Amino acid sequence: MIIAHISDLHFNEGIDFDEKIYEKAVKILNKVDADFIFISGDLTTSGLLKEYEFAEEKLKQINGKKIIVPGNHDERNLGFKLFPEFFGKTDFIEKFKDINLVGLATSEPDKDDGRLGRGRHKLITQGIEKGKMTIIGFHHHVIPVPNSGRETNIIEDAGETLDIILKNEIPLVLMGHRHVPWAVKIHKTLLVNAGTFSCTRTRARFGNTFNIININGDKIEISVLNIKEEKKKKMIELNLSDGCCENKYF
Ligand SMILES: [Fe+2]
Ligand SMILES: [Fe+2]
Repeated sequence: MIIAHISDLHFNEGIDFDEKIYEKAVKILNKVDADFIFISGDLTTSGLLKEYEFAEEKLKQINGKKIIVPGNHDERNLGFKLFPEFFGKTDFIEKFKDINLVGLATSEPDKDDGRLGRGRHKLITQGIEKGKMTIIGFHHHVIPVPNSGRETNIIEDAGETLDIILKNEIPLVLMGHRHVPWAVKIHKTLLVNAGTFSCTRTRARFGNTFNIININGDKIEISVLNIKEEKKKKMIELNLSDGCCENKYF
C-alpha cells in the first residue's frame, strides 16, 4: 500500500500560498499512484470562505482519494463551521482492507495550539482491530520537532495521547503543522511529520516537501519528496517484526 502524506497547503490569495510550487507538486504527486492521499490540515490560512472555496477548487487537481483533517489555520474566523461543509467529518475511522486510519481534529477555534480530549482518545482505541494496522493522523505534533524553531503548540494532552499510542503499539502516527519533515521511532511507533506542500513559509533549505509511505507486509518505509529539486530521499524505515529502525534523512 502506498500513502501520500501531504500537509500545510495554505491556500490563500495573499503571500502564504506558492501557486507555482503547488502546480509542480501536483504533477509529481499524481505520478505517485498512491492508494490514498492523507492531508494533515492547514488547507487555508485564515479559515475564510473564499479560502475554502479556493482549496476545494485547487484540490480537484489532485487525483485519487483524499482524506483530510483540519489544522489550526482552518479553524480561524469560524472556519470550523465551514470545514465539514467542504471536506466532511473532522473525526473519523476510515477502513481499508488491511488498515484503519483514524483521522482526528487537534485544532481549536482561533487558537494555534491544540488538544485531542477523551472523546478522540476513545476513537483511537475504537480504530484498533485485530489483524489490521491502525494509523492515526492529525495536524499538531505530540513531541518536539527539530529544525522547527522554539517549541510551541504541542497538543495539551500529549502525554495521555502518547501513552495510548505506545500502549496499543500503534505503528504509525501522521502529523503536520511544523512545516518540516521529520520522523522518529519510539518503542514500536513511528511518529512522522510531513513538511509543507505549498506554503511560502518554508524553513531554511528544507523547501516544500511531502512524504511517501510504503507499507509492505511488516515493513513501513517513508521517503521525503523535495518538490523543487524533484528528489526523493528515504527518511525512515521500520520493520514491525523485529522492531529495527533506520533513519536516513538526518
Ligand atoms: Fe501550517
Ligand atoms: Fe498549523
